Amino acid sequence: MSFKAVVLGAAGGIGQPLSLLLKNNPLVKELALYDIVNTPGVAADLSHISTPAKVVGYLPPDDGLKKALTGADIVVIPAGVPRKPGRCSDRRDDLFKINAGIVRDLATGIATSAPKAAVLVISNPVNSTVPIVVEVFKKHGVFDPKKIFGVTTLDVVRAQTFIAEVLGDLSLASSINVPVVGGHSGVTIVPLFSQSSHALPSNYASSDLQALTTRVQFGGDEVVKAKDGAGSATLSMAYAGAEFAEKVLRALKGEKGIVAPTFVHLSSDKSGGETIKKEVGKDIDYFSAPVELGPEGVTKILSLGKLTDSEKALVEAAVPELVVSIEKGVSFIAPSKL
Ligand code: NAD
Ligand code: LMR
Repeated sequence: MSFKAVVLGAAGGIGQPLSLLLKNNPLVKELALYDIVNTPGVAADLSHISTPAKVVGYLPPDDGLKKALTGADIVVIPAGVPRKPGRCSDRRDDLFKINAGIVRDLATGIATSAPKAAVLVISNPVNSTVPIVVEVFKKHGVFDPKKIFGVTTLDVVRAQTFIAEVLGDLSLASSINVPVVGGHSGVTIVPLFSQSSHALPSNYASSDLQALTTRVQFGGDEVVKAKDGAGSATLSMAYAGAEFAEKVLRALKGEKGIVAPTFVHLSSDKSGGETIKKEVGKDIDYFSAPVELGPEGVTKILSLGKLTDSEKALVEAAVPELVVSIEKGVSFIAPSKL
């Protein structure tokens, strides 16, 4: 079994390396690249790689979006502007002004041309763009909460890497299982180090644990600063996006027991969703929680498990910002006719 994957925003900083990684995925038989610029070139380049996926590039003219999306099993969206200090913004939320409209229009395309595809949203601010996709799908009468995912995998990848650095062995990083929950921006990012498969040293100071938590929460800032005006994380995000896409594809194919944290609508598993609401102490509609994936998308939302007192405080601090960001996405679509 193999699949058609579509990348929307495929010519960008994330889109290009993500498309490369998907071209290299044996589960992908067809790869459609859509952007407002440059996709014919990116597709021609990738199409010379000796892996099975057939690559085609599409631009807006001649119904390019519709053609790219038709028959899609999985659609990954890294379209939109990134943070660029001094030029664009200092917070992911500042991207809303531009990215909300981009995501709305792409979601409309998916709702009409590939309503059954799994949709993986990378475009920031994820805590608002996922609700935008959901509201667009609702307006088109095609909303299936099991199929819409906010990609928070980069937070997990960072947590894995930073733990491995503390343990002094980077070769461990990819095998470290550490949940990161909540959302994808600043204090809404909650790493649960107490549940890591690889424990931090027993003499690890609580001030160091706090600093490690902050590093995961603000890892994006580290990259934005280092890139010094040239954008935000692209290569690590492409890696993370390809990792999560691979998990979704393996689950669509029928592989069991695949679990990953992702930002989902909590109605995607009613009972698991209710448990999360109790655990966070708020009747919230979305949360990034560990999710078991299956052929239908979300199979089960897993409990956050036993939290330490400091993790409980982090979850508590995440909720107010999450509520505001979710509402911002919902109310962006509510008045529109589409
Ligand atoms: P980029 O500017 O390099 O690329 C964005 C691409 O989107 C460009 O090629 C642009 O032409 C395209 N685009 C713009 N409008 C479009 C439209 N209407 N339809 C199709 N394509 C369109 O930016 P980037 O560095 O690749 O980042 C993309 C987004 O991903 C940003 O919003 C960024 O904040 C976000 N991001 C998210 C995470 C995460 O963890 N979820 C991590 C890193 C970056
Ligand atoms: C990240 O976490 O690196 C991304 O969300 C990009 C950003 O703006 O920080």
